[in-house]
Amino acid sequence: MAKHSILVTYKLPSSAIEPLAAVGDVDVYRDGVLTKDDLIRRVKGKHALVVAALDKIDKDVVDAGADLKVISNVAVGYNNLDVPYARSKGIILTNTPDVLTDSTANMAMTLILSVTRRIVEGDRLVRRGDWKGFSLDFMIGSEIRGKQLGIVGLGRIGQAVAEKASTFGMTIAYHNPSARAVAGFESMSLDQLLATSDVVSLHVPLSPQTKHLIDRTALTRMKRSAYLINTSRGPVVDEDGLAWALREGVIKGAGLDVYENEPHVHQGLLSLENVVLVPHMASATTETRAAMYDLVARNVVNVLNGQPPITPIP
Ligand code: DGY
Repeated sequence: MAKHSILVTYKLPSSAIEPLAAVGDVDVYRDGVLTKDDLIRRVKGKHALVVAALDKIDKDVVDAGADLKVISNVAVGYNNLDVPYARSKGIILTNTPDVLTDSTANMAMTLILSVTRRIVEGDRLVRRGDWKGFSLDFMIGSEIRGKQLGIVGLGRIGQAVAEKASTFGMTIAYHNPSARAVAGFESMSLDQLLATSDVVSLHVPLSPQTKHLIDRTALTRMKRSAYLINTSRGPVVDEDGLAWALREGVIKGAGLDVYENEPHVHQGLLSLENVVLVPHMASATTETRAAMYDLVARNVVNVLNGQPPITPIP
């Protein structure tokens, strides 16, 4: 069988490279994110392309990769890929669902607890040397037991968050922009969900329909005591509007793992105490990343061997 040629745009560990090297020559880019020109240059003649969130695989890249059989995204989200165009060229696309569900849901719960209990704010205060000692009316946060968690996008990760939040005593409501019903949970219009939830957690993929789904108008519909959590994709939230809402007390707080223009974070958010900011790390655990790499490698090997992929992008 002819040897395949594989481009990997990230310095993946040897455990991920070895199975790929068993089926072809692997060109691994180890120096950060490839520029579009370099990506176009290096993808020429490759049969498989392994990419991650910051690699934008648009029509030009797909056209340059005329020999591509598979593009494998090291992520569950795939807004960085022009899926319809690549598909029209006969390329199979894969992502990494399921293996990161628990990890991402744990991050959403971490953000919920961190912002409602003012963990990062408290940590900053202690480090600054500003703690004057225990006081009954100091650093008062909010309980989540008995409160409503409004989940926007009740898919795999949304459901995992729902299960975890239920064990903390939260009631669950959801809104699916796709209108897909999920048995066992209360479905609401987005407006109703925003108006009645104590915590709103976003779990929708980024698409033209979900871009700025949470804008100023949506934020003004939320309770002044409510919190917004985003572990989906940054552009689902209008960051300018969010900075305004947090500053003006339109909502009480937020927890963000993702941003509109990563790694840039809106200046207006950086100085606020009532927002927890973490650097797109919801799936960043040793175990989850290993599972993602393993899935990516198995997807590529399968396609190059003429087998169906394990997790094709739907
Ligand atoms: C994902 O898997 O979509 C994560 O956000 C990493 O890109």
